[in-house]
Amino acid sequence: MEKQQKSSHVVLVMVTFQGHITPMLQLASILHSKGFSITIVHPEFNSPNPSNHPEFTFISIPDKLTESHFSDKDAASPVWNLNKNCAAPLQQCLEKILHSLHHIAAVIYDTLMYSAQPITEDLGLLGIVLRTGSATTMLFYPAFSQLDGEHFVYEIKSPELQALQLNRLRALLSQNATKAMTEVRVAFANVLKRSSAIIVNSMEFLELEALSKVKQYFPAPIITIGPLHKLAPAICSSLLTEDDKCISWLNKQAPKSVIYVSFGSIVNFDKQELIEIAWGLSNSKQPFLWVVRPGMVRGSEWIESLPNGFEESVGERGCIVKWAPQKEVLAHAAVGGFWTHSGWNSTIESICEGVPMLCRPFFGDQHLNTSSICNVWKIGLELQNLERGNIERTIKRLMVDMEGNGIRKRAIDLKEKAAFYVMEEGSTSCSLNMLIKHILSV
Ligand code: UDX
Repeated sequence: MEKQQKSSHVVLVMVTFQGHITPMLQLASILHSKGFSITIVHPEFNSPNPSNHPEFTFISIPDKLTESHFSDKDAASPVWNLNKNCAAPLQQCLEKILHSLHHIAAVIYDTLMYSAQPITEDLGLLGIVLRTGSATTMLFYPAFSQLDGEHFVYEIKSPELQALQLNRLRALLSQNATKAMTEVRVAFANVLKRSSAIIVNSMEFLELEALSKVKQYFPAPIITIGPLHKLAPAICSSLLTEDDKCISWLNKQAPKSVIYVSFGSIVNFDKQELIEIAWGLSNSKQPFLWVVRPGMVRGSEWIESLPNGFEESVGERGCIVKWAPQKEVLAHAAVGGFWTHSGWNSTIESICEGVPMLCRPFFGDQHLNTSSICNVWKIGLELQNLERGNIERTIKRLMVDMEGNGIRKRAIDLKEKAAFYVMEEGSTSCSLNMLIKHILSV
């Protein structure tokens, strides 16, 4: 693909949660490699280290978020407050950039920073939204944005979409939705409706039917430009330090024997759940690599609440780290399964390495991703509850029993399809060309 000739400036508005920093930086790297200069505007919390990315200009804006916003039981609270607090500084920041550069080709904002959309529109700039989750999640937004959303029913005939069980999931997500949650969801729907294009970190073949349905709801072109982690040069985007000692531990394990356990960057659980997970892993008799982030267990600093006798029963069969080099882990020959919370980045990283999944969703899009993994692509099993006996049995079903063989085969088939999609150039460069053309259209 040609490097584009005219050097143009793109502003990216990043939201600094781990699962959002990485895809935005990957997109920035891809656009930079095509000749665009890049400014990244981001809230102050979790600021990325600019010295890791000298090719970009970083500008931080005050977010006024406090610990209490993050510990709030209402998961929508940080996002709602972020948008409320960042809107005015973001507007000033964009005006300043515009004043000094005279031209901004486009502003690309994360869906979570929905306040960027009306600001961009008021300034007469081209606004593009980056959806860091799956395309399928967008099926929910028309329902959430209806005033009588409660009565919204999906009338879907295709077996693939029926397998997602959208009505059940929608009811689940609507349970106890707070006022902030409802407002945030309506704002997501509006930002998707009003942006000039929607970028999604996905592959067309993976979500074909959902994409065709989503396109009926949203008029803007949907540009599937994934998997970003395979298309972008390797970048340093981790907020926590990756512990490489797990790679030397993996090197000592038999092929496809290890279950890798990680619940991403946000999920928390209580001490009793930690104990059930620990005994489930121990009793499964499978080797395991387990990521427990500091502070992940409520009321504990790290793993001091592990039960007595656990370490002795596990011995060298288990390795626990605070943060792993996940993409390297998933690509390791010893890894035969991934117990995940079904965050979208983890899902797509696992698909690209052909690793079958054990899914335990905690909130939001994780339920829908689980449904895609287990019911549509059939490359995983859902773990119904965090009880030690159930954990032990489900790990064995995936890693040892015949049932796991079919799941593993489908996971490998999907990996091959994804590798072909990336290598083929056609699909990915077509999406990228579409994006570049769109950015340069104004
Ligand atoms: C959040 C939401 O929880 C998720 O539902 C949504 O889809 C994206 O935003 P997060 O929980 O962090 O994301 O999960 P995920 O999307 O899977 O992203 C985690 C990222 O951290 C992945 O890129 C993964 O490779 C990385 N990671 C995780 C590591 O590098 N090391 C680890 O030890 C754990």
